[in-house]
Amino acid sequence: MAKKKPIPDLHYLYEASVQGVETDLDFAARIFKNKRKRSPSDLREDFCGTAALACEWVKRSPKHRAWGVDIDQPTLNWGLEHNVPNIGKNPGALELLCADVLKVKTPPVDLVMALNFSYCVFKTRELLLTYFKQVRKALKKDGLFVMDIYGGTEAVGTKLEPRKVETFTAADGTKVPSFQYIWDQAEYNVIDHHVVNYIHFKLPGIGKIEKAFTYDWRLWTLPELQELLIEAGFKSAEIYLHDWTKDGESDDIYRRRTTYENTLGWVAYVIGIK
Ligand SMILES: C[S@@+](CC[C@H](N)C(=O)[O-])C[C@H]1O[C@@H](n2cnc3c(N)ncnc32)[C@H](O)[C@@H]1O
Repeated sequence: MAKKKPIPDLHYLYEASVQGVETDLDFAARIFKNKRKRSPSDLREDFCGTAALACEWVKRSPKHRAWGVDIDQPTLNWGLEHNVPNIGKNPGALELLCADVLKVKTPPVDLVMALNFSYCVFKTRELLLTYFKQVRKALKKDGLFVMDIYGGTEAVGTKLEPRKVETFTAADGTKVPSFQYIWDQAEYNVIDHHVVNYIHFKLPGIGKIEKAFTYDWRLWTLPELQELLIEAGFKSAEIYLHDWTKDGESDDIYRRRTTYENTLGWVAYVIGIK
């Protein structure tokens, strides 16, 4: 009988299927430059996990510095082993902190970024407001806070969505062959917007890896996020959304919107402006 292949490291599969750190950083730097007429240099990545975004930021310029904050030391360790060694000549420009984003203290930064909906772990207004106040304090006086959220008619309900992920080369040079990523919205409570989502993977020669990642969240809405940012002391809050290619995919070009036609699914950037 043919031996089954070993299960690959899930962090590689996560980075290949979920993260788009280059797009996220291009977007944040563009908005910052447009608004502030200078380039941002200091960035904090909240809920950083393996710190892929913070590492990419430091790699981009010798002027850049980054702080990554995550509460889970083993995930940070993976980042320290696989992502941090590839940031180039300026390793002192990056610091990873094992801490709670509700309490952590870091030097003032131009940008705080909290991506892939991670702040949805805060399920009450009180907790999310506390977090937003902490972020505001962590920013320089002209700093920006960038986060994202998903929505659309299919976001408020259960669904199972498979997607093919093309061959991927990780920051440490590891090649990940093409595989299937499955986004599973398993539970949605219409009363309080609490959701349970899973990520499953299906790999050729290995089979399905069920519940590789689990998310127990409150799905916040765009008006709630904007109102809470203002309540936390941000001067304003803005929403950026993409258009569509003719195949019905996101064109990844984000523009500021004050109205938007609802669709099956979209991902927005939400900006808090200090
Ligand atoms: C969905 S992952 C995000 C990984 C990565 N930043 C991304 O964009 O894909 C969420 C991360 O948030 C971390 N986390 C959860 N609660 C936290 C808290 N209160 N403070 C800091 N990190 C937290 C978890 O340990 C986990 O690594």
